[in-house]
Amino acid sequence: MKKLTAHEATVPCGLLGDTTTRDYSGKLKQFNAFAAPELRDAIASLRLQPGMHVVDVGCGTGEVLNWLSAAVGATGVVIGIELARAHAACARSATPAQVLVLQADLLRAPLRRASVDLIWTVNTINHLRDPLAGVQALAGLLRPGGRIALGQSSLLPDMVFAWDARLERLTNEAVRQYYRDRYGVSEADLAAVRALVGWLRGAGLANVSVRTWSLERLSPLDVASENYLRDVIFRDTWGERLRPYLSAEDFQRLTQLCDPRSPDCALRRPDLHFLQTFTLAVAQLPG
Ligand SMILES: C[S@@+](CC[C@H](N)C(=O)[O-])C[C@H]1O[C@@H](n2cnc3c(N)ncnc32)[C@H](O)[C@@H]1O
Repeated sequence: MKKLTAHEATVPCGLLGDTTTRDYSGKLKQFNAFAAPELRDAIASLRLQPGMHVVDVGCGTGEVLNWLSAAVGATGVVIGIELARAHAACARSATPAQVLVLQADLLRAPLRRASVDLIWTVNTINHLRDPLAGVQALAGLLRPGGRIALGQSSLLPDMVFAWDARLERLTNEAVRQYYRDRYGVSEADLAAVRALVGWLRGAGLANVSVRTWSLERLSPLDVASENYLRDVIFRDTWGERLRPYLSAEDFQRLTQLCDPRSPDCALRRPDLHFLQTFTLAVAQLPG
């Protein structure tokens, strides 16, 4: 198991290890390229209007800022808030000058209170030690009638090995055990992500609605989906770090399925059927 470095251990960090100096920008770029069709559809479902003020909180590498910017047009305002210096730098280089990217902690966002029409925040609130406090802080930025769109991927387990539910279940459990050990989090911490609706209601927001998209890909995969599965899931999320958590036989089978050089690689299988969910919970500050 990889231990936190001495530097990481001294910097205050979120539940899942986020700090100002952490950098997983490659993974974020690949996720957004893979999920782009569904994310863009989710943004379209919000029916943003020209001139709106929109903030992407935990904007990562900034792909979504461009889609939000297109939705609110030249008269709109789009701002990204991002804790990690490297992610904020990627977001700045991915967006035109009129998009402002601020490196800041969302709990202390340097924005005027009651000024924002829409806050978009994806796969970020679950990285906080106190997610409800995070949603409450964001609600304070909304103007009366303003909305928050809280997005989360994989609320339902992904399906990667359609032909082997057993290995997939053990692999998912190994990942959870890895996270428990690496970040010292409990099972309850990892499951807290299911509480999107509770966080919104707990922050005093109204008109809560929820919709889930299925991101479904078959072989032959498009390039972005293949890159995401190969690098983000097979190599970085699974890979060598799961060895201590699986039997030797299961780890060997997983390695064969995940190794792009192996003739057994899942990416080459005609029965590949990859399924991941993206859930968007939207709520409004009473006007
Ligand atoms: C899993 S990533 C998601 C990024 C982006 N929303 C996306 O979907 O690609 C979580 C992001 O939130 C940022 N983050 C974590 N804690 C934060 C905080 N307290 N304030 C601002 N950003 C934070 C991380 O640095 C990271 O870029």
